Amino acid sequence: MYIFQEGEAGDNAQKLLCYDLHLYIMNIEFVQLRNFRNYEELSFSPSPGINVIYGKNGSGKTNIIEAIHYLSLGKSHRTNSDRDVVRNNESFAFCSATVRKANTKIEISLNLSPNEKKVKNFSIAKKRINRFHELIGQLQCVIFSPEDLLVIKEGPQLRRKLIDMMISQISTEYFIALQEYNSALNQRNAILREYKKTNVYDPNMIDIFDEQLAKYGTVIITHRARFIDELNRIASYYYEQISHNEHEKLSIQYASSLKIDSELSRAYKKLLLSNLQNDLFRGTTEKGIHREDLDILLNTKEIKVFGSQGQVRTAALCIKLAQVELFKKHSGEWPVLLLDDVMSELDVERRRKMMELTGKVQTFITCADESDVDIQLADRKYYIYQENANGKMKKFIEECNSNISNNELIFE
Ligand SMILES: Nc1ncnc2c1ncn2[C@@H]1O[C@H](COP(=O)(O)OP(=O)(O)OP(=O)(O)O)[C@@H](O)[C@H]1O
Ligand SMILES: [Mg+2]
Repeated sequence: MYIFQEGEAGDNAQKLLCYDLHLYIMNIEFVQLRNFRNYEELSFSPSPGINVIYGKNGSGKTNIIEAIHYLSLGKSHRTNSDRDVVRNNESFAFCSATVRKANTKIEISLNLSPNEKKVKNFSIAKKRINRFHELIGQLQCVIFSPEDLLVIKEGPQLRRKLIDMMISQISTEYFIALQEYNSALNQRNAILREYKKTNVYDPNMIDIFDEQLAKYGTVIITHRARFIDELNRIASYYYEQISHNEHEKLSIQYASSLKIDSELSRAYKKLLLSNLQNDLFRGTTEKGIHREDLDILLNTKEIKVFGSQGQVRTAALCIKLAQVELFKKHSGEWPVLLLDDVMSELDVERRRKMMELTGKVQTFITCADESDVDIQLADRKYYIYQENANGKMKKFIEECNSNISNNELIFE
């Protein structure tokens, strides 16, 4: 993506370059589903470039994205109940992916059996794994789905969650600090709640937890500031590229209440102390990193208030593209990009640009209509149709579109 710009010596050169690079970029070579959502049986070999999956509403496009998400992060991106993905009237679901990485090739698979004692079993190279963290990182994915628009439109909680998740994926120090912070916060809040009932509290205990919150809060603020600065730089670059309009400037700013300097930890503790009476009155800790927000602005105005639907979607997409970039920078591997139904509200120019930018990592794009994407830029195109309520997939090879029957692959 972005860092390969120097290789751009014309479209063909760029394409060649990315195919060479795909030899070293993580990509999924083969996908197989059995009794997964509406698929009785499905298998296909995606391109290492852009894969477009299109079909009518309800045909099963997101189901494929969901299966890949399971194999990457161990869970669905849209349900908390594993049982939901098991095909109706079946007792198990299965999905697997063969993943090519820089030096190896692995097969990751999932067996879901809601009626068994252990419902969810993952295997790597056919060997069952016992610990969840063995799965994380094997297949790195960045997903963008319609739900992500809420990150921009809704309250600060979702934005914090997104930032926490992004930084946690690349920094264990951050992940641990966040866990420690939340644990100290819960205990401090328990004291505050108790005070509301009894009018008694132990200032020494508050002091102990304030110390913890200041210590871990400092780590978190420092990471957030650094990360959001990088995110802003890359996302605003993408926004400029995609909108093709120099008057539309995206900026993402970290709205921290504290200044980052050598006094940060002390200032943090002071902030908690100065707000203690208020916290005791309210029964909760009102200041700190758990209340911070991100300002997402378009030309210095809040995008959630002033942005059009397409602008909000472009901004959300650029944040995800920046995440891909930052993933690569920090982990050394390009992740697979999953774009579920994100094209329909973008104008033609934005769609084209968007596909050009994503073309350097393996990308799965779903859309309801073939015209939602610039087909010239798709490396492989799949059309999903349903027959007798069974999901089937028909693969079109773009160059041979006129003679589809020779090239179709139907899986039942
Ligand atoms: N457990 C299940 N068993 C069988 N079919 C299921 C199951 N869960 C969902 N489905 C079916 O899967 C289909 C929805 O699939 P999916 O969400 O992938 O559609 P889509 O192609 O992404 O649609 P849209 O364009 O509206 O986003 C629906 O027809 C639904 O009935
Ligand atoms: Mg869908």
